[in-house]
Amino acid sequence: MTISETQNGGISAADVTRIVATIVDAVQADRTRLMDIVQAVQHRLGYVSDEAVHAIAERLGIHGVEIEDMVSFYAFLNREPKGRFHIRLSKTPISMMRGAAAVAGAFSRATGAVIGGTSPDGEFTLEWTSDIGMGDQEPAALINGTVLTALTPSDVLPIVAALRQQHAENGVPLFPGSDAQRAGLLKAKIGASLVKSGPVVFQTGTAAGAGLEAALAKSPEEIIQTMAKAKLRGRGGAGFPTALKWKLCRQSVSEAHHVVCNADEGEPGTFKDRVLLTELPDVVFDGMTIAGYALGARRGLVYLRGEYAYLWDRLQAVLEHRRRVGLLGKDAGGKAGFDFDIRIQLGAGAYICGEESALIDSLEGKRGAPRDRPPFPTDRGYLQQPTAVDNVETFACVTRIMEKGAEWFAGFGTPDSTGTKLLSVSGDCQRPGVYEVPFGITVNEFLDLIGAPDAAFVQMGGPSGQCTAPKDFGRRIAYEDLSTGGSVMVFNSGRDVLEIATQFAEFFVEESCGWCTPCRVGTTLLKQGMEKVLRNRATPADIAALEALANTVSRMSRCGLGQTAPNPILTTMRNFPEAYERRLQAETFLPAVTLREALAVAVEVQGREPVVQEGVG
Ligand SMILES: Cc1cc2nc3c(=O)[nH]c(=O)nc-3n(C[C@H](O)[C@H](O)[C@H](O)COP(=O)(O)O)c2cc1C
Ligand code: SF4
Repeated sequence: MTISETQNGGISAADVTRIVATIVDAVQADRTRLMDIVQAVQHRLGYVSDEAVHAIAERLGIHGVEIEDMVSFYAFLNREPKGRFHIRLSKTPISMMRGAAAVAGAFSRATGAVIGGTSPDGEFTLEWTSDIGMGDQEPAALINGTVLTALTPSDVLPIVAALRQQHAENGVPLFPGSDAQRAGLLKAKIGASLVKSGPVVFQTGTAAGAGLEAALAKSPEEIIQTMAKAKLRGRGGAGFPTALKWKLCRQSVSEAHHVVCNADEGEPGTFKDRVLLTELPDVVFDGMTIAGYALGARRGLVYLRGEYAYLWDRLQAVLEHRRRVGLLGKDAGGKAGFDFDIRIQLGAGAYICGEESALIDSLEGKRGAPRDRPPFPTDRGYLQQPTAVDNVETFACVTRIMEKGAEWFAGFGTPDSTGTKLLSVSGDCQRPGVYEVPFGITVNEFLDLIGAPDAAFVQMGGPSGQCTAPKDFGRRIAYEDLSTGGSVMVFNSGRDVLEIATQFAEFFVEESCGWCTPCRVGTTLLKQGMEKVLRNRATPADIAALEALANTVSRMSRCGLGQTAPNPILTTMRNFPEAYERRLQAETFLPAVTLREALAVAVEVQGREPVVQEGVG
């Protein structure tokens, strides 16, 4: 697959049917491959047209509504034609701090497209998108899937001029990389992200494949015992013990078991999995193969976020090489009777698909809606069969544990959080990027390491994590103290903690899947509540109501997204009460906006001021 998108451009309905037939037949008309089918169709036509929906439905023998339902869910799938070049600008607190608004303005002027629209000549669509995993190199953008980083307004005219000269089938121009860390990634302009290697994941000196070889010499039960001895906990955020998950999955009786690598990495501020997949793909694939052997699985699936499509060709080449040398396929790794292969599933821009049950639905070619639990994926996951979903970094740890032993691994970190952690650092510090540090390091020690002497607050664990104040900088980064899946965003004293919390609130409004009311409605009300505070219109009663609402959304939401969405508000209320108090009004009630603010658009359109009574506006 290449990552250029071309436009429909006059393809007849008959040709659409023919194109769809070829695409559907290439996956043996497998309904669970609907994501691949729809993405391939969009790649050929530029969007998923009515004809295409009809043709796919007919060929798969399903109802068109199933396709519409799925396509409408994902931000990267289009039912309408878009510009020949689709520019998606990363919108995060960090990108905004680094001047993303000015870059967006420059793109708008250069292309003639308003943000959220397509230019009159049909060439460019310009949109904001949630974090694209480049927090250390903002402002960043995806243009037809190609990543551009560290953009400034003055970069924009030459980029747009170069794009205009490209012919449809050529996609975007290549921006060759400039250092070894991205060797082979020609379709991206990305700087090196790995700042500090540690003694576990990024260690050097062990022969490639040694972990897999050691694992295949043991029994599956022994491997699971080794993970238990190492006290390995999942690196995706929740810190669930990997050995327990694998034991439950293995015990579950079924025709087939599955291993899934969660490479969705949608948490704003997190990009360590991108770096791992770039730098050490074989270590991750070894870990998946070890898991496959331990669980008795024949199939491994990598769910790669759509924003990382530019990694696709490279990862496929690594998998192909592994097949050639016998590490995948029949008797994988030379182990008689162990047949195991790995397939990559590309996501399509939905943060909720990082949640494991939503991810599984997406893998099955559906909208990524979280499932009710129980049953847990270890009992009924992919295709209703036992499935272990683990994070990219967890698989890398598995390989290292098999290479060097459980005691060696447990010798790093703390008794409850063994090993090291990869942290993705962005924001106000001198050296943003990925750091591998032992669990147990204090926030203060870590801030010294990254060069952040002026940190006024640190968002640990992305928007769903905790906003940490200086009084807590002595705390340890570990599951039992300050926990993070990998995101560390640093803000100095020039930043407004409530503005940042409001931007996180907006992120959850965008990313709520809409299935349950507490989250769908609650996240919007939370955002509106924060906007009222920012406008200096909130009263003590508003703050009390906001806190009660935040607790309700936390308690009543169906999945982890809604349950953690209020965290930015609750943790800033707890740790920065003075920031709220400074903005409070003493009145018992104030409307969210003044009459003047409510009439602002009408005033602009009419070109005349309203007559407002004294004291009302
Ligand atoms: C909204 C939401 C998003 C998530 N995103 C990710 C993600 O991008 N990557 C990830 O590994 N886990 C993510 N998780 C956690 C997964 O559900 C799951 O716990 C994890 O993949 C298990 O792997 P681990 O045990 O190796 O940590 C997310 C959870 C929620 C609720
Ligand atoms: S909590 Fe939010 S994301 Fe989760 S199911 Fe409900 S609406 Fe969807």
